[in-house]
Amino acid sequence: MKRGRVRPVVAIDGPAGAGKSTVTRRVAEALGYTVVDTGALYRTVALACQRADVSWSDERGVGEIAAELALEDRLRMFQEQGRTRVVLHGEDVSDAIRTQEMGRGASLVSALPAVRAALLELQRQLGREGGVVLEGRDIGSVVFPDAEAKFFLTASAEVRAERRRAELEAAGQAVDLQQVLEEVRERDRRDSERPIAPLKRAPDAILIDSSHLTIDEAVKEIVRRVREVAGAEPGSEGGEAR
Ligand code: DC
Repeated sequence: MKRGRVRPVVAIDGPAGAGKSTVTRRVAEALGYTVVDTGALYRTVALACQRADVSWSDERGVGEIAAELALEDRLRMFQEQGRTRVVLHGEDVSDAIRTQEMGRGASLVSALPAVRAALLELQRQLGREGGVVLEGRDIGSVVFPDAEAKFFLTASAEVRAERRRAELEAAGQAVDLQQVLEEVRERDRRDSERPIAPLKRAPDAILIDSSHLTIDEAVKEIVRRVREVAGAEPGSEGGEAR
């Protein structure tokens, strides 16, 4: 295990809609690890900007807000009943950051170098002790290049759009599949083509394609591999994980 860690850092990266959140939560439950949802941090920056009337394209303004949020106690993030809860300046914003609009805002602000720099150290702090599953876009490539277990969870754009449509429909919103597919492609493009920390599989990340896998199968495969890594380390608890 890397310096100062007793248990592994597990990185799960991949595009929106590949099933990362569910898989991350289930993997963490199976291993008894904690979860860090890094997308929630970018979403919170987007929300904080909107509330402060700072445009998502104003790099200086957004960067200042991100740097301020990264200071201790401004933003708290924790898991409750399998959900990530975010408290911003004392207010629970867990639902407010989950809208389509904040997804778009997060995608825009996350392309700004000042924002990535501000959130980098915070993410490292959140995962540094190990026994943690971090989900995001650049965890295995930038935030924890030394993570003991790295996965790139993906699915075809069509499969991801269909999942998103079903999700929105279940929430009572009728949507056009073609339009959702275009949004999925647009977000992929933005996240993959940005010059800083683009969405990209780290060379040593294991590719898991969930197009033809059930959530259960993806979880099982990831847990098996993490246990392998954890168990290989002397003095680790990997073999005892549930
Ligand atoms: O996973 P999510 O949908 O909550 O992420 C929202 C946006 O944040 C996504 O479009 C890309 C960005 N993001 C990022 O750039 N790096 C991360 N580690 C996590 C999210």
